[in-house]
Amino acid sequence: MLRSTDFGKEVCVKGWVRTKRGNKNVAFIALNDGSIIHNIQLVADVAVFGEEALKPVTTGACIAATGTLVKSQGQGQTVEIQAKTIEVYGTADAETFPLQKKGHTLEFLREIAHLRPRTNTFGAVLRIRHHMAYAVHKFFNDKGFFCLHSPIITGSDAEGAGEMFRVTTLDMKNPPKNPDGSINYKEDFFGKESNLTVSGQLEAELGALALGLVYTFGPTFRAENSNTPRHLAEFWMIEPEMAFYDIKDNMDLAEEMLKYLIRYALEHCKDDLEFLNNMYDKELLNRLNSIAASSFQRLTYTEAIEVLKASGKKFEFKAEWGVDLQKEHENHLVDHFKKPVILTDYPKGIKAFYMKQNEDGKTVRAMDVLFPYVGEMIGGSQREENYDKLHARIKEMGLHEESLWWYLETRKFGTCPHSGFGLGFERLILFMTGMTNVRDIIPFPRTPKNAEF
Ligand code: 4AD
Ligand code: MG
Repeated sequence: MLRSTDFGKEVCVKGWVRTKRGNKNVAFIALNDGSIIHNIQLVADVAVFGEEALKPVTTGACIAATGTLVKSQGQGQTVEIQAKTIEVYGTADAETFPLQKKGHTLEFLREIAHLRPRTNTFGAVLRIRHHMAYAVHKFFNDKGFFCLHSPIITGSDAEGAGEMFRVTTLDMKNPPKNPDGSINYKEDFFGKESNLTVSGQLEAELGALALGLVYTFGPTFRAENSNTPRHLAEFWMIEPEMAFYDIKDNMDLAEEMLKYLIRYALEHCKDDLEFLNNMYDKELLNRLNSIAASSFQRLTYTEAIEVLKASGKKFEFKAEWGVDLQKEHENHLVDHFKKPVILTDYPKGIKAFYMKQNEDGKTVRAMDVLFPYVGEMIGGSQREENYDKLHARIKEMGLHEESLWWYLETRKFGTCPHSGFGLGFERLILFMTGMTNVRDIIPFPRTPKNAEF
């Protein structure tokens, strides 16, 4: 409607009042219905409506209006609506409505997460989030991947990494006990200990070894107490898993996908990106355009350590072969190469049991994709497809072999080389929007001590 030149047309609009201004003769009402960042302006003749009738039309109120689409006489819009009728669905008391003035801080908005979608910022972020979710499905569908719904409740700790959230129906005050005093989970709902999943990968592998190319896109849960701007206790992950892909194919897919998603956003979220660029981060559009056109730097972990050492920088955590890379190291690498970096062949000691072991006996065929601005965007690997090697590694790491029997069987029956990775959806949205905290790009963040709304 905002781009229409259909002047004289009768229209009906419904939405939430952003502002009302004007004088004794005329009221200008900026209305937004959430579909796009722009408002439509209603012009109401006070003499026609009467002052009383326009009183409940205040910031935050929800209204329906009919009128004629006319060429705007004011600045800032090309069309406006000369209002004929206004129906108020819901008022918003000026004394108590929290979104009165513009320019609330993001921190304050987190406390009113039930209303913040009605701000320009969150409207933009949530629309971009939607377009990215759709683009993920489209990317994979167009490449012949199948979406696999991995379970949310799991009886196994997929990674052997990260604290999990327990799922139980036992009476916490009086749980059934074993003779040794421990809780008897045989009496629990699933007859065993169960948790919320930390990753859909292991199930995705089962899918890939049947359907060839699959991906999961679901919520994952980690009960780590990491209160950082990049970690959530509940986040969404996209996990493709591909039969017959080696680590090189895996890197190619990750790079192609990330560039596709950036280009998709640039094409489909133009107005919202421009708003965020102007409001928060003047480099956002430049960064997106330049990375969409770049080719990612690929190097091994061992080479990366050399780059870090050669930098002569004093890092808080010393960069030495064998250590897990910290944010400061990741930042240095992406700054150094001035583009995204894909690191491979990490020491086996700092990576998960399922990663393919290299001939050197020291490293595994892992890959992490590091991005400017957000750090680790993707973690993945080629998988160990050899039963004996995988089994030995599970034992060596002291993992619960019994709960992984079904995973191990895929290496007994028709195993094949395969690879996959996990893309953190919120990290992607952070990068796409230029926002700086994951709490501001998911509708209802779950973090330590915070599950309101
Ligand atoms: O590196 P991670 O732990 O890898 C896995 O879970 C593998 N199973 C993936 C696979 O190979 N299929 O997590 C993958 C990505 C990270 O690179 C990061 O982007 C994101 O998930 N991530 C988080 N995002 C938000 N909050 C957290 N607490 C996250 N932990 C990981
Ligand atoms: Mg990782």
